[in-house]
Amino acid sequence: MIRKDKPSIGAWTTFFWRFLQQPRQVGAIASCSEALAASMARALRHPIGQERTDLGGSSLRHVVELGPGTGRITAYLHGEPLTLVEIDPAFCQLLTKRYKKADVLNMSAVDFLLKQRTPIDVVTSIPLLNNPHARDIKAAIGQAYRAGTIRKLVTYSYGPLSPLACCGFANEARVDRVLRNLPPANVWVYT
Ligand SMILES: C[S@@+](CC[C@H](N)C(=O)[O-])C[C@H]1O[C@@H](n2cnc3c(N)ncnc32)[C@H](O)[C@@H]1O
Repeated sequence: MIRKDKPSIGAWTTFFWRFLQQPRQVGAIASCSEALAASMARALRHPIGQERTDLGGSSLRHVVELGPGTGRITAYLHGEPLTLVEIDPAFCQLLTKRYKKADVLNMSAVDFLLKQRTPIDVVTSIPLLNNPHARDIKAAIGQAYRAGTIRKLVTYSYGPLSPLACCGFANEARVDRVLRNLPPANVWVYT
């Protein structure tokens, strides 16, 4: 079932204002569309390759969203144990008000991934194209995967190439192309 998520005027304004101040960190002029948010949440349940069974075996999934921004995708991740890792304090304020049951951490995804010890499924919107920290973010993702912390990762890209090809995942697939987003986006799953 598709949940409807209408972003508030406050969320739109915060997003645009933060984009003007930190364009390479925010990475987009507007938050993602409802269609992309729903597709990302579906992708989290999309089976690709061999699911890793060596990572604790629990069917309970600890979902971690990296770079949730205004929480557009978060709205579709409800009902699961949820941690939101966001570097921008203005977005963290919005997220804390909106998602009272989620654990909102105001920190860099790099620091989070390097400290995390138990298995997680990751949804990430962190822009990598012009991000000055892209290399560190990819290295931390690769390290967490090899350490057995990342069980599955879902992300999106605007270009046709796999954005995390260099991180050492055993399986990768482009599972959707969402035209109803500005610009249209590809949804990727890594295991
Ligand atoms: C494209 S925006 C997220 C859009 C979000 N899906 C939405 O619709 O509101 C990217 C987000 O990643 C966050 N971000 C960028 N670098 C980060 C990092 N190193 N750690 C955590 N968050 C980061 C930005 O602050 C921004 O909120």
